[in-house]
Amino acid sequence: MSDTTEPRPVETLSREEAENELAFLAAELARHDALYHGKDAPEISDADYDALKRRNDAIEERFPDLIRADSPSKKVGSAPSDTFAPVTHARPMLSLGNVFSDEDVQDFVASVYRFLGQLPDNSIAFTAEPKIDGLSMSLRYENGRLVTGATRGDGTTGENVTANIRTISQIPDRLPPGVPAVVEVRGEVYMAKSDFLALNKLMEEEGKPTYVNPRNTASGSLRQLDPKVTASRKLRFFAYAWGEMSEMPARTQYDMVMVLKDWGFPVNPLMARLSSIDDLLAHYRDIGLKRGDLDYDIDGVVYKVDRLDLQERLGFRSRSPRWATAHKFPAEQAFTKLTGIDIQVGRTGALTPVARLEPVTVGGVVVTNATLHNEDYIKGIGNSGEPIREGRDIRVGDTVIVQRAGDVIPQVVDIVEEKRPADAEAYRFPTTCPVCGSHAVREVNEKTGKVDAVRRCTGGFVCRAQAVEHLKHFVSRNAFDIEGFGSKQVDFFFENEDPSLQIRTAPDIFTLEKRQAQSELTKLENIDGFGKVSVAKLYAAINDRRSIALHRFIYALGIRHAGETTAKLLARSYGAYEAFAAAMKEAGSLSGDAWNDLNNIDGIGEVVARSIVEFYKEPRNLEVLERLLAEVTPEAAEMPTTTDSPVAGKTVVFTGSLEKFTRDEAKARAESLGAKVAGSVSKKTDILVAGPGAGSKLTKAQELGIQTMDEDEWLALIGG
Ligand code: IVH
Repeated sequence: MSDTTEPRPVETLSREEAENELAFLAAELARHDALYHGKDAPEISDADYDALKRRNDAIEERFPDLIRADSPSKKVGSAPSDTFAPVTHARPMLSLGNVFSDEDVQDFVASVYRFLGQLPDNSIAFTAEPKIDGLSMSLRYENGRLVTGATRGDGTTGENVTANIRTISQIPDRLPPGVPAVVEVRGEVYMAKSDFLALNKLMEEEGKPTYVNPRNTASGSLRQLDPKVTASRKLRFFAYAWGEMSEMPARTQYDMVMVLKDWGFPVNPLMARLSSIDDLLAHYRDIGLKRGDLDYDIDGVVYKVDRLDLQERLGFRSRSPRWATAHKFPAEQAFTKLTGIDIQVGRTGALTPVARLEPVTVGGVVVTNATLHNEDYIKGIGNSGEPIREGRDIRVGDTVIVQRAGDVIPQVVDIVEEKRPADAEAYRFPTTCPVCGSHAVREVNEKTGKVDAVRRCTGGFVCRAQAVEHLKHFVSRNAFDIEGFGSKQVDFFFENEDPSLQIRTAPDIFTLEKRQAQSELTKLENIDGFGKVSVAKLYAAINDRRSIALHRFIYALGIRHAGETTAKLLARSYGAYEAFAAAMKEAGSLSGDAWNDLNNIDGIGEVVARSIVEFYKEPRNLEVLERLLAEVTPEAAEMPTTTDSPVAGKTVVFTGSLEKFTRDEAKARAESLGAKVAGSVSKKTDILVAGPGAGSKLTKAQELGIQTMDEDEWLALIGG
C-alpha cells in the first residue's frame, strides 16, 4: 500500500487546524480514557488509541506553543474511580513511550547513546520482552507480607484493590525469608485467552451477555467490590518492574526480574537480553510470530536499558522513562464492502465524503462509516497532485480496506481491484451542495495558485448545514459554552417552525426567553424532554453568557481560520471589542496601518488576517453581529498588568539567533512579563532584540529609531 494512506501530514496543518485538532484529540482521548479505564468498555482498539496519541504528540511537536493545559501527553491513564480507597504510590507508576517502525527503534537506541554521550557501539545491553495487554499493578510487601495491591490510576494515585489481589493464586501472599523490608513489585494482571473463552462459553450457556475481550474482563473482575467475584475469574500475573525497594538485590533489569522470579513471581519466559538493534528487531519479529499462539494478549515488545545505573542517569521525561520504550505491533485493517458515499457539509461549507460500509470488525470495534477525505482522494490523487494507491479510484460496490489508525475516524485506505463489480461506476463528486443546492467550488489559493483539496458550498448563511454547524460551534465548549445547549438542542430549535421557538442565528438564542414569554403558542416547558425546571435552567445558562470573555466571543463567530489561539491573540492585542471591530473594518482595504498592525501580531499570518477582514466586509455578518451585540457584551480583555516589569505593555520583536533561549522560550518569558511579542517591526514596536545574523528587521528598526538591544541587554533589562 502506498504511504499516502496516512492521515493528513502534520507538516501541512495550519495553526488553526492544528489547534482544532489538538482540542479534538484532548476531548476524544479523555473520552476513550474514561471508557477504557473507568468503564472497561472501550470503543476503539489500543492500536487506534496509540495512533491518536501519536498524532497528538506529532502536532504538539510542531506547534509546541499550542500544547494545552489538559493535553493528553501530560496524562498517564485516567483518574481512579471512586469505589475503592485511593492509594498514593510510593513511586509514581509511569507510562511508556511508543515506537512503531524499525527506524523509530534505531532512533530510540541512538537517543540512549546520545544522552549518555557515548558512541553507538553496541556496548549497551537492553532487555526485550512482550508488552502484556492487561492492567498494571503495584504490590507492596512489608517485612515479606503483602500489604497493598493498587492499580495505576492516574500514575500518582491508584485504587486499593488488595482484597481482590489476594484471590489471585499466582501472586504470593508472603515472600521468602531474607527479602528487603520494603518491596514493591510491579507487573501486569491479565486474563488468559483460554480462561476468557471458557468464561464466555459459560455466559452464553447461561444466556448472559458475553464479554468483549480479556483485558476488559480482567479489569472489570479486579475492580469488583466483592472479592468473591474476582476469585471466580481466573486472573494471572507477570512481574516485570518494581517501585520502592528498601534494598536493591541486583544491578540490572534482567537480574532484577530473575530475583522476582526467585521470590515466587511469574515472569515472562520471552524476555531476552540483547545488545544490537538487529537483535532487538529480530526478537520483536520473533515475538510477533509467536503472538497468536500465546495464551495471553500482547500488543508489542518493551525494550529497557539493562543496567540500572544507566537507567538512573537516563531518567524520565514528563511521563515516561528515557531508558525504555514500547515497540507496538501495527494497526489493524479489515476488508469490507463500500455500500455508498454520503457527503457531509461542515461549518465552513466543506463537503466531506463519508464511506458507508457493510459492518466489519477492525481491531475489535465494529466500523460502519469511514472517511474518504476529499474528492481527489476518491479519485486516487494525493494532496500534491501525485497518484495515490497507484492511481486506483474508489467506487461504490468496491471491496475496500478499512484501517483504524492515525486518524480519529477510520479511513478507507485501498480497494481490491479484482473484486470490483463490472458495473461499478467512477464516483461523481457533487458540484452543488447536497443540502442547499448552491454551487460547491474548489477555491484557488491566491498565494500558491494551488486548487484547494476541499470543495466548499458557496451558500453561506443560506445553507442550512452551514447555519446549523455555525450554531453548534457558537455554543461549543470553547465558545459560549451554554450549559444544556448542545448539538441536540441546536437541531431542535433550528428546525422548529414556531417563531417563538426557532433559533436560526446566534442572537436568536438570547431572545428565546422573551419570545417565549410573549407567545401564545407552544411553551417550551410543555415539550417532551424539557419541563419547567430544565427550561428555567436553560434560560439561566443563556443569561449567564450575556457577558463573555472577548476571546470566546471572537472564537464563537466561527471566522474561518480563526481558531481559539487566534481569538486569544486578537483579544489580547485589541483589548476591547469595539477597538477590534473598528480595526478590522479599517483593515478591509488590505493596506494601511490597521492592516499592518493585524499582520504584525505574532502568530497571525496573512491567510488568517484576510479571512477576518473578509468576515467584517460581509453585510450579513455585520447584521447578525449587530443583533448579537444588542444581547451580549464582550468583556474587555485583561491587558497585561505586570506593571512593575520594565517591559509591560511594550511591543517586542526578536530577530536573529538567540543563544540562551529558544525563540519559543524567549517569547513565553516576554509575554509572562506583560510584553506583546510581534513578528515584524512597525511604528508600534518598542524594542527590537537582535541576535547575531539579524538583517532587515534590524535595519528597519534603526530607520524608525526604535530601541534595539542584544540578548544580554534584554536579559539585563528583564532581570536575568
Ligand atoms: S515497564 C516505567 N514492561 O504498559 C515503565 N510495562 O504503556 C514501567 N506493560 O503501565 C513499565 N507489559 O501496564 C513494562 N513488559 C512490560 C509491560 C508493561 C505491559 C504495561 C504497563 C505500563 C504500560 C505502559
